[in-house]
Amino acid sequence: MASSSLPSISLPVNVFELNNILSLVLTLTITSILLANGAMAMAIPTTLDGPFKPVTIPLDESFRGNAIDLPDTDPRVQRTVEGFEPEQISVSLSSAHDSVWISWITGEFQIGNNLKPLDPKSVVSVVRYGTRRSQLNRKATGRSLVYSQLYPFLGLQNYTSGIIHHVRLTGLKPDTLYHYQCGDPSIPAMSGTYCFRTMPDSSSTSYPSRIAIVGDVGLTYNTTSTVSHMISNRPDLILLVGDVTYANLYLTNGTGSDCYACSFANSPIHETYQPRWDYWGRYMQPVLSKVPIMVVEGNHEYEEQAENRTFVAYTSRFAFPSKESGSLSKFYYSFNAGGIHFLMLAAYVSFDKSGDQYKWLEEDLANVEREVTPWLVATWHAPWYSTYKAHYREAECMRVAMEDLLYKYGVDVVFNGHVSES
Ligand SMILES: *[C@@H]1O[C@H](CO)[C@@H](O)[C@H](O)[C@H]1NC(C)=O
Ligand SMILES: *[C@@H]1O[C@H](CO)[C@@H](O)[C@H](O)[C@H]1NC(C)=O
Ligand SMILES: *[C@@H]1O[C@H](CO)[C@@H](O)[C@H](O)[C@H]1NC(C)=O
Ligand SMILES: *[C@@H]1O[C@H](CO)[C@@H](O)[C@H](O)[C@H]1NC(C)=O
Repeated sequence: MASSSLPSISLPVNVFELNNILSLVLTLTITSILLANGAMAMAIPTTLDGPFKPVTIPLDESFRGNAIDLPDTDPRVQRTVEGFEPEQISVSLSSAHDSVWISWITGEFQIGNNLKPLDPKSVVSVVRYGTRRSQLNRKATGRSLVYSQLYPFLGLQNYTSGIIHHVRLTGLKPDTLYHYQCGDPSIPAMSGTYCFRTMPDSSSTSYPSRIAIVGDVGLTYNTTSTVSHMISNRPDLILLVGDVTYANLYLTNGTGSDCYACSFANSPIHETYQPRWDYWGRYMQPVLSKVPIMVVEGNHEYEEQAENRTFVAYTSRFAFPSKESGSLSKFYYSFNAGGIHFLMLAAYVSFDKSGDQYKWLEEDLANVEREVTPWLVATWHAPWYSTYKAHYREAECMRVAMEDLLYKYGVDVVFNGHVSES
């Protein structure tokens, strides 16, 4: 049994820089929480100094804000494309530098009664790409899907999404700028030209310069200042450690509340307003069409609907390198970014020692080559170590199941979300 806690950092936002030498330099450049807490201005020790006694930073009550959501009238969340032109374009990494996923949505979502979902086969999924903007001479095709969020209760509205496309590009060179267009060339409905940079090759001397780590993001005016701050720090990669849109703070009629349970105690099921996901995808496109994002699920993605289906928007909208990393689940996977191996773990599916996630994790960890990826970083949503009353020991069962394994393989850093103020 481990005697003290893994070095874990659970904060709404931070951006860290990795030196391409063997010390992890956590240059915590943003987060007002850090700046407000003088304690954290001290140098952060490396794991070479550990294991550590947990350090607790008291909650700054002045951050109990009243976060205000961007309304549907905000130009940044509105649909600006026509017909089946791509929108909500984003890039995600595959498990290694030579492959990425491009995702986007075509066609309009519908919300209301007696909906007829779009036919995902009616729009094909093509990405044209290349290292020269004027010569997108490579082509990849992928898959498309539509999901629905159904509420078989009187007075509640159903939702069905636009057509969601995921295309995997392969055979990419490390640390290289690629230009791309996505869409369906036969309609024709191709996007404008965007670009992304691949991760550097994996080795002990090769790292992305800046990784932004965000969690509990939402789509409030505070989100916009966080995202602006993140963009101004020019990250090469974004990790989102769960709680994406907070569409589950809304009823299906589009009325929202900071406290769902307080305001909507009588709804027959915990409702959601799925257009918030589309708003989020639109708002984030300028950054996510360029900077890869890797996501792990949070409690706000649960979104129960008819037939006890859960996490449907989450698993439909993002691309995850699950197959590429030997996982059978979209909820957990791993990937390399330069000399870092990232473990994206699921706090909301089974983590028992006899379960699939644990088995996959054990195998993944056993296969890590520390000469190639000296840094081992794990993320999941709900922290194992926290004194925050509202979420006290929520993830204790996960800790009991998995902590030893993470120690055994020498995980260097853990990032979590969940403990945040609205
Ligand atoms: C929503 O879908 C459910 C399940 O198919 C159905 O029972 C319900 O009547 C639908 N509601 C509306 C308003 O169309
Ligand atoms: C969040 O945004 C509100 C305005 O919507 C602002 O008054 C408040 O200061 C912001 N909170 C933080 C912590 O930046
Ligand atoms: C949505 O439903 C709630 C609860 O029935 C109601 O209070 C609210 O006014 C409705 N909002 C709209 C926009 O119809
Ligand atoms: C959904 O969950 C409820 C409550 O846990 C259960 O009674 C019901 O049988 C489940 N329905 C399905 C379709 O699995």
